[in-house]
Amino acid sequence: MTQDELKTLVGQAALAYVEPGSIVGVGTGSTVNKFIDALAGIKDTIAGAVSSSVASTERLQALGIQVFEAADVEELAVYIDGADEIDRAGYMIKGGGAALTREKIVAAQSRKFVCIADESKLVQTLGGYPVPVEVIPMAAQRIRRQFAALGGSATLRLKNGAPLVTDNGQHILDVSGLKITEPLAFESEVNQWPGVVTVGVFAFQKAHVCLLGTEVGVKTLVF
Ligand code: 5RP
Repeated sequence: MTQDELKTLVGQAALAYVEPGSIVGVGTGSTVNKFIDALAGIKDTIAGAVSSSVASTERLQALGIQVFEAADVEELAVYIDGADEIDRAGYMIKGGGAALTREKIVAAQSRKFVCIADESKLVQTLGGYPVPVEVIPMAAQRIRRQFAALGGSATLRLKNGAPLVTDNGQHILDVSGLKITEPLAFESEVNQWPGVVTVGVFAFQKAHVCLLGTEVGVKTLVF
């Protein structure tokens, strides 16, 4: 199976976690796009969605799924999202699609985080994938030096030759060269740095379940 087919498989499998009549938390990315497409097939059985990005909102609305503001919904039963890396404890690196801040917000208001990923995303230790960090632009240079002191190398993410601007009007640093052996401690520390909006390590908002697309079908990991 191709990676795209594995993404389709887990996107469809995630429908099993959608409660009839509920508002569903929806992440961002190519795997989630498969989930959104599958969700359109059962849209008459749900109340709608809370979305983690402008891109997902547009896709949901184009398929006729009502999108609610996160602030107008107290709690969600389930949040479905992809990951750039996930380890055997359910800790993740996220933000490859630059939506990490809103993803963490929606995940935090959800009772269950279901991660959907192809098997290439499962790792022993987080950090092979550069950690995305959303930052306030005036702090970016100082934050780069702070990562350098930890042994990391932070580069400003660009789009069409200019700094990428997130849905929140901020920039993204991608930090390579880190081996994140203690995700909770790492997330706590980096979150304290002035100018950091969100670090793309999801340890406090880790996955409860991962639907992993493999050559032999969908494997369910429960954390
Ligand atoms: C977006 C994310 C995505 O979940 C992550 O980048 C995985 O994306 P894809 O499903 O396209 O591989 O965190 O900010």
